[in-house]
Amino acid sequence: HWKMSDFVEQAITRIRNIVGDKAQVIGAVSGGVDSTVVARLFTLAIGDRFHAVLVDNGVMRLNECQEVQNMLQEHLGINLTIIDGAKLFLDRLKGVTEPETKRKIIGGTFIDLFEEEAIKIEKAAENTPNAGKVEYFAQGTLYPDVIESLSFNQFSATIKTHHNVGGLPARMMNGQGLKLIEPLRELFKDEVRAFGKQLGIPENLNMRHPFPGPGIAIRIIGEVTPERVAIVRKADHIFISMIREAGIYNEMAQAYAGLDTNRAVGVQGDARVYGYIIILRAVTSVNFMTAEPYAFDFELLKHISRRIVNEVDGVSRVTYDITSKPPGTIELE
Ligand code: XMP
Repeated sequence: HWKMSDFVEQAITRIRNIVGDKAQVIGAVSGGVDSTVVARLFTLAIGDRFHAVLVDNGVMRLNECQEVQNMLQEHLGINLTIIDGAKLFLDRLKGVTEPETKRKIIGGTFIDLFEEEAIKIEKAAENTPNAGKVEYFAQGTLYPDVIESLSFNQFSATIKTHHNVGGLPARMMNGQGLKLIEPLRELFKDEVRAFGKQLGIPENLNMRHPFPGPGIAIRIIGEVTPERVAIVRKADHIFISMIREAGIYNEMAQAYAGLDTNRAVGVQGDARVYGYIIILRAVTSVNFMTAEPYAFDFELLKHISRRIVNEVDGVSRVTYDITSKPPGTIELE
């Protein structure tokens, strides 16, 4: 039976053997545990010949881009480039309401920007005397992702396109001739987390709930506008902070604030306001294929609701989604 510490050593050795002492590697990071573990492993194995790229797609959470930068660059010493794509993503999402179209726009724009950056890194690499070409693309694919994309191909076109699994490598590989390396391909999430701990990744990052590639865009029903993004970010920040303060974050598999398309009337002070409706969702789940709504303490839930209505301008109502999966999904779109 293998031990975690052996796995770290083996993974680093394997990376060095594959990449050699000249070639360079590029990889996308999101701030989540999988891509951070991959980035840290490659950094330990080949230092700055690994290039991490974070694309700010305008639908990350409040302050998230800055927090990821602090953690990866300063704390973990990863060679990181941030692409500010927020405006481009939001421009392309303007007027779009159909869920799959939203996903495709975000996935496609991500690839456009990522490819552009990869080319820049390749050009710069040509002028680096001690390093070779960018030859590899690193990705934090886990074992369940492998399984899910297999069943996705076989059985259904209606399952949502998980853009961090299917689309990206195919086009990257064809366009760039990059070879794919997936060091976590045989691991489950809990193993990656144990692995992250070994690699010095802090507990709160290691235990972070999964966050989808299309970000809060699939938690905003209907059009993604800068105003609606700002509202969801504030509400989500309050929700998650209160969950953390209550010490129940690790009891849930995922939690977030989303937004309905409709509005509803509420009273604030003496005035009737026609405001936004926040949808809170928190679930427990073992493998994300099924999920149950988290059984909140009702007083806490009411306290969360009160704070959101009081502190987030434009919100008149807060609802809690108690749908199981199935028939619901974890995300709203
Ligand atoms: P659903 O909403 O289908 O989600 O119950 C199941 C799990 O998958 C995540 N998810 C995604 N992750 N890109 C991702 O990287 C996506 O397009 C995507 N869609 C859903 C979701 O957050 C949950 O953990």
